Amino acid sequence: MAARHVLTIDGPAASGKSSTAQWVARTLGWRHVDSGSLYRAATFARMQAPGAPETWTEGSVLSGAAGIGLAPVEGSFIPTLGGQPLGEEIRAPDVTAEVSRVARMSGVRQWVNRVVQQAAQGHDVVVDGRDMGTVVFPDASLKVWLVADPWERARRRLQQRLGRRPSDEEIAAETDELVQRDSRDATQTVQARDAVLIDTTYLTQPEQVERIAALARAVSAKR
Ligand code: C5P
Repeated sequence: MAARHVLTIDGPAASGKSSTAQWVARTLGWRHVDSGSLYRAATFARMQAPGAPETWTEGSVLSGAAGIGLAPVEGSFIPTLGGQPLGEEIRAPDVTAEVSRVARMSGVRQWVNRVVQQAAQGHDVVVDGRDMGTVVFPDASLKVWLVADPWERARRRLQQRLGRRPSDEEIAAETDELVQRDSRDATQTVQARDAVLIDTTYLTQPEQVERIAALARAVSAKR
């Protein structure tokens, strides 16, 4: 049997990793796993129990995370809590504000890494996050490091959220938030030495997807 292919896509906040990874996976007919959605689900689950975020312990986050699963949806997965699918609630600003705190807990990182590896097992996969190419799949066949100018990342995120052209003031405030989250996530956001850097600042999403899919095909053809 041919070895399976693992494509990792890592990079800073709002660099378009998850949507690009999902699209690339669809283009290649591979499976997609979004590790960030698990950190978000763990944060959301912990929020359902009492206690201010400053008082959260690793044990209390992990006990909330025990109710989290992954449900397969169109070649990807969405997290579930108590069997119920989690949707946009895990992308809400209050979850985003606390997710880095949860992501710094080593037991939580081990839990996410295990769940991601199980979901990816035995399949050709595209996995996205911050440390997929360094910690979770160091032997991946292709590693992509996806970056974009912070202003452009903020503009895209707002355009998607508001469904209209954001003002410069709105983009500036969002840029500030993104840069702060990048700083909180800095220790776990690691570029693999053998990653291909793709700067999407001046690329459309179809262009970035085609570039990454072409790289994946080239690597697959060699193995
Ligand atoms: O990618 P996304 O913005 O959904 O990730 C949410 C958060 O999860 C990040 O801000 C980061 O704190 C954490 N994360 C991580 N390692 C990953 C993926 C996400 O620490 N592999």
